Amino acid sequence: MTDLAAETGTDPRSDMASAAPLIVADRLVKQFLARRSPWGRAGSVRALDEVSLTIGRGETLAVVGESGSGKSTLGRALLQLDPPDQGSVRFDGEELVGLRERRLHPYRRRMQMIFQDPFGSLNPRMTVRTILAEPFEIHRSSYARVNIDAEVSRLLDAVQLPASAADRYPRQFSGGPRQRISSARALALKPELVVADEPVSALDVSIQAQILRLLSDLQTQHRLAYLFIAHDLAVVRHIADRVVVMYFGRVVEVADCDTLYRMPGHPYTRALLDASPLPDPEAEARRKRVTLQGEVPSATNPPAGCPFHGRCPRAQARCLTERPPLLERGKGHQVACHVPLEPVLG
Ligand SMILES: Nc1ncnc2c1ncn2[C@@H]1O[C@H](COP(=O)(O)OP(=O)(O)OP(=O)(O)O)[C@@H](O)[C@H]1O
Ligand code: SF4
Ligand SMILES: [Mg+2]
Repeated sequence: MTDLAAETGTDPRSDMASAAPLIVADRLVKQFLARRSPWGRAGSVRALDEVSLTIGRGETLAVVGESGSGKSTLGRALLQLDPPDQGSVRFDGEELVGLRERRLHPYRRRMQMIFQDPFGSLNPRMTVRTILAEPFEIHRSSYARVNIDAEVSRLLDAVQLPASAADRYPRQFSGGPRQRISSARALALKPELVVADEPVSALDVSIQAQILRLLSDLQTQHRLAYLFIAHDLAVVRHIADRVVVMYFGRVVEVADCDTLYRMPGHPYTRALLDASPLPDPEAEARRKRVTLQGEVPSATNPPAGCPFHGRCPRAQARCLTERPPLLERGKGHQVACHVPLEPVLG
């Protein structure tokens, strides 16, 4: 929040906090049957373990965690692309879990996804025009009278691509423009929520900043909410309103962006912050890193107690047996740890 906004109480986030959330997810559970390995028995993986969150209208909620922590599973569960085994997802007040496809159809228009891989997610045999027209075809009953050519021009303009791009194929573009095409497709039907699953991690660093700026501009224009998935806390620092940190299918910390970066409560969040490069190369060279010790636990044979205990410098006896609940630490700040870090004041 800017100083002026703080003084005048005009922070748009206070509007978001008071309005009913767009998405309310409650205790989502998702299990997968793990593939049988040559060495052992097939087991099950609890990719989501009682995950709850809310996303406000126009808000950017970042979800951060290492590979395998359940981020993509969460995004897909919210959008009902791969519905949860247990738990509830309410979108604009309506329960989505358990709805038949016909009843879900209108909600699919309001929720979209942008994928990490702009190479694999666009059909190579379609022109950009056909790719951008497809969402209108899928939802033809609501868009029968729409002028598709005008919509394609509008979308290309919104993602700052020339009109001539419409007649080309995805392979004729490099990563950045391809991710612009994916973004245009996701925005075609003016959704209210976009799940962006690592949308910039396949791109060069110089291109990443351009795409992040584009996504942020589109959000302002359309009052979009984002669930923005990333490995790295540095990527989301300047775009997220709040951050959810996941470890091993669980939410271990939730906080607004400023609080999370200034005074993280969970040792895992601290370790992720230590792993993110600092923007200033001199400060980066000077700082001490606390690297994570120990192995990532087995997904099919999870440890008792806190799943982070094998890697945690603060672990105590109870961490080996008692699962830490997610507890309120301050306004909107929740931490799941028996021995949370103390805030550093000043
Ligand atoms: N279709 C599936 N079948 C079996 N296991 C799965 C399936 N999808 C995900 N998993 C498992 O669920 C866990 C969470 O996976 P998920 O893809 O959600 O993690 P992620 O945080 O998105 O990881 P990454 O950062 O690598 O994309 C992992 O252990 C993964 O192997
Ligand atoms: S509960 Fe214990 S092991 Fe888990 S993060 Fe906190 S201190 Fe570390
Ligand atoms: Mg993923």
